[in-house]
Amino acid sequence: MTIYRSIFRTDLFQNQTILVTGGGTGIGRAIAHELASLGANVIIASRKTEPLEQTMKEIQSAGGKCAMYTVNIRNEEAINAMFDEMLSDHETIHGLVNNAGGQFPSPAENINQKGWHAVIETNLTGTFLMSKTAYNRALRQNKGSIVNIVAEMWNGFPGMVHTGAARAGVANMTKTLAVEWAKDGVRVNSVAPGVIHGHGITQYDPAFIKSYVKMASADIPAKRLGTESEIASAVTYLLSPAAAYVTGETLKVDGGSSLWRKTWQIDDHTNSDKFDGFEP
Ligand SMILES: NC(=O)c1ccc[n+]([C@@H]2O[C@H](COP(=O)([O-])OP(=O)(O)OC[C@H]3O[C@@H](n4cnc5c(N)ncnc54)[C@H](OP(=O)(O)O)[C@@H]3O)[C@@H](O)[C@H]2O)c1
Repeated sequence: MTIYRSIFRTDLFQNQTILVTGGGTGIGRAIAHELASLGANVIIASRKTEPLEQTMKEIQSAGGKCAMYTVNIRNEEAINAMFDEMLSDHETIHGLVNNAGGQFPSPAENINQKGWHAVIETNLTGTFLMSKTAYNRALRQNKGSIVNIVAEMWNGFPGMVHTGAARAGVANMTKTLAVEWAKDGVRVNSVAPGVIHGHGITQYDPAFIKSYVKMASADIPAKRLGTESEIASAVTYLLSPAAAYVTGETLKVDGGSSLWRKTWQIDDHTNSDKFDGFEP
C-alpha cells in the first residue's frame, strides 16, 4: 500500500474537492496523494486511463477519496464535457492544480510550427482553458484556489524555447487572473520547479537526460535534484488557508538553481561583432 506522509494537518482539506490535471503520474501523482492524505476529495484528469486508474486505486486503498476523468486540456470541448460529467458526480470543486504539461528538448532552430504549437497549446492554452472553465463553472460561485505548475525559466530556457515561452506566459497569466478574480475570493498562484527527479524526466531520451542531469546538478546550490514531494508540499501550502493572503505569486522550488545554474553549453566562437562609435 502507498501511504503518503504529509507534514500538514490531516484534516486540512476536509470537504474540499480539488482537481489535479496530470494527476496520474509524477509530480501530479504526488500532489494527488498529498491532498488525499489531508482529507481532500481528489479528482485526477489526463488523457491516458491506465496511469489515472493506478493512482486512483493507490489513493483509495490508502483510505483516500479519489475519482478520475479523461481529458485533453488542449481541447475546450473536451474540457467542457469533462466538467459536465465531473459536476454531475461532484457538487463543485474548490481547487484546481494545473499540473499537466509536456515538452521536448530541441535547439530552437529545429522546432517546426507543429511542435511549437503543441507545446504552447498544452502548457499555455491548456492551463488558460482549464482555469477559465474552473472559474466559470465552480470557483467564482464558491471561492477557491488555482495553482499552476510552471518551470524554472527565469534566464530563458535554452534547449526548450517553446516551454520557456509558454511557462513565462503562465507566470504572467497568474498575475492577471489573480487580479481579475480576486473579487470572487479566487486566488491564483504558480509553483516553478527546478529539475525534479521522478517520472517526468524518464520521458526524455536517456542520452539527453543523462547529460542534462549531469550538467544541471553540477551547479545547483542544493547539489541535488528536487523530489516530487517537494513540489507537492509547495502546492499544498498555496492551496491552503496558510496562503490566504498570497495571490499572483510564482514560488520557485528549485534548490537555488535559478540563482546559479547554467543550462546550456556555449561553444567557443568569435562571432560577436563589436560596436565602437570611435572606430574608423
Ligand atoms: N520533472 C521536472 O523536472 C519538471 C520541472 C519543471 C516543470 N515540470 C512540469 O511539471 C508538470 C508535471 O511533470 P512531471 O515531471 O510529473 O511529468 P509527467 O509525469 O510526464 O507528467 C505530465 C502529466 O501531464 C499529463 N498531460 C500531458 N499532456 C496532457 C494533455 N494534453 N491533456 C491532459 N493531460 C496531459 C500527462 O498525462 P497523460 O499522458 O495521461 O495525458 C502526465 O500525467 C509538467 O507540467 C512538467 O512540464 C517538471
